Amino acid sequence: MKAEIIPFHTPGHKLGSGVFSSLKETFGDTLFRLDSSDEVMDFERNNSFELVLSEAEKLAAELFGANDTLFLVNGTTSGIHSMLKPLQGKIIVPRFSHVSVYTGLTFAAVEPIFMPTEFDLTWMIPKPPTVEEFNRLILAKNLSTNENKKETISTILTYPTYYGQIPNLKQISNLTIFNNGLILVDEAHGGHFHFSKLLPESAIALGADFVAQSTHKYLGSLTQTSMLHCNNKDWTPAVRKTLQHIQTTSPSLIFLAILDETRRQLAIHGNSLVEKAIELAESARARLEKIPGVEVLHREAQHDPTKLVISMKKVGLRGFELEDLLRKQYGIQVEMSDYFSIVALITIGDSEQSIDRLLFAIKDIANKYRTQNEVCLDILTYPEISPGVMTLREAFYAETELVALTECQNRVSAGYLIPYPPGVPLVIPGEIITSDVIEWLHVAIKYGCEIRGFSEGKIAVIKDI
Ligand SMILES: Cc1ncc(COP(=O)(O)O)c(C=O)c1O
Repeated sequence: MKAEIIPFHTPGHKLGSGVFSSLKETFGDTLFRLDSSDEVMDFERNNSFELVLSEAEKLAAELFGANDTLFLVNGTTSGIHSMLKPLQGKIIVPRFSHVSVYTGLTFAAVEPIFMPTEFDLTWMIPKPPTVEEFNRLILAKNLSTNENKKETISTILTYPTYYGQIPNLKQISNLTIFNNGLILVDEAHGGHFHFSKLLPESAIALGADFVAQSTHKYLGSLTQTSMLHCNNKDWTPAVRKTLQHIQTTSPSLIFLAILDETRRQLAIHGNSLVEKAIELAESARARLEKIPGVEVLHREAQHDPTKLVISMKKVGLRGFELEDLLRKQYGIQVEMSDYFSIVALITIGDSEQSIDRLLFAIKDIANKYRTQNEVCLDILTYPEISPGVMTLREAFYAETELVALTECQNRVSAGYLIPYPPGVPLVIPGEIITSDVIEWLHVAIKYGCEIRGFSEGKIAVIKDI
């Protein structure tokens, strides 16, 4: 029989006895009893938190087909930071990358070379980069494809995008320019790929060196819990060491246990759960396509069917308006909305009932709005990447001031200006705020798009430059 242990250690709530009653009422006893410390002695395992964790991580690596897997308690963001920080040389960064890529680059030694994003103008959504775009950039930036020159060039790819589209990872990673560098993948939205042949192959299966994956986004674990899959033995020690530097020294045992149990359940049921979600999504798509005035991003352009990209622009509704209607009048919250469309995610948590609710709402809205005229946009081409005069890191440490939008032309931005969604930055720290950028800001604001980067209605710029 196990003796009861009296806690004289952190966390200070002492396994629940010091927890405020309002918290206990909301979250229950169990949560706090499980919230122990990683220093606590486990007699059966000889006190090795590290041993238990590495056993759990090994099982995850086995499941996902990686050499090593690291559990993340600070989201995919910490995985992305860990894989970027140790890099040397240059890295090609498609502009349609998540902000965690930019924040990771701010404190990394590697030099980013940004690749412009092309948009699908019918849907006004950013497209994943193609091999041809990579080749164009390599020529334009005079990057050497000559192996003897040994310049280290890596890349980081988002796989898939929020819209369920993927770059051709295999072809891109085969470009000779990457022979000395690493292929890093942000698979925040693609954890389910591993579990069905009906989905694209996972980035690890396609040979990526490091893949950060948000277990919490698609695979049923708790927010903040993610995994970093490592397939490059030479670089894994540096990436692991970086993670130890940036992640908390007091990881939540609840988070880690949830990751482990999620892994166990997925090993048993992952395939059937993910295929059920695909089936639900495909049936929803077929029903949506039959509703007059409703368009769904065509299947050939979309590699992940579980992200339903729905537009009702033909009946005069922008994505932002549709999202608002669904939330306020039908009690439905979608993942995001943009100029023309909404994105509804179908995951292992969905059922016939949740799909029916969505379908009912869309049908009802289509009926009510069918007499409205189609909506369009004033300008469609995204501004060119602005000239950069400082690195992300220099801009981070520079002195800044806030100025009004009317006064920021030709100033150097100290922050990000990102119409969100779809999340392609107009400028990043260190780049010049051009008149094209300002024009786009006005368009985005006019159509109700949230702009990330304003502070008290003003824009942060570098002082005295
Ligand atoms: C494409 C993409 N990459 C990375 C992240 C960061 O993931 P996490 O929230 O797990 O830190 C997100 C989060 O929204 C994302 O959408």
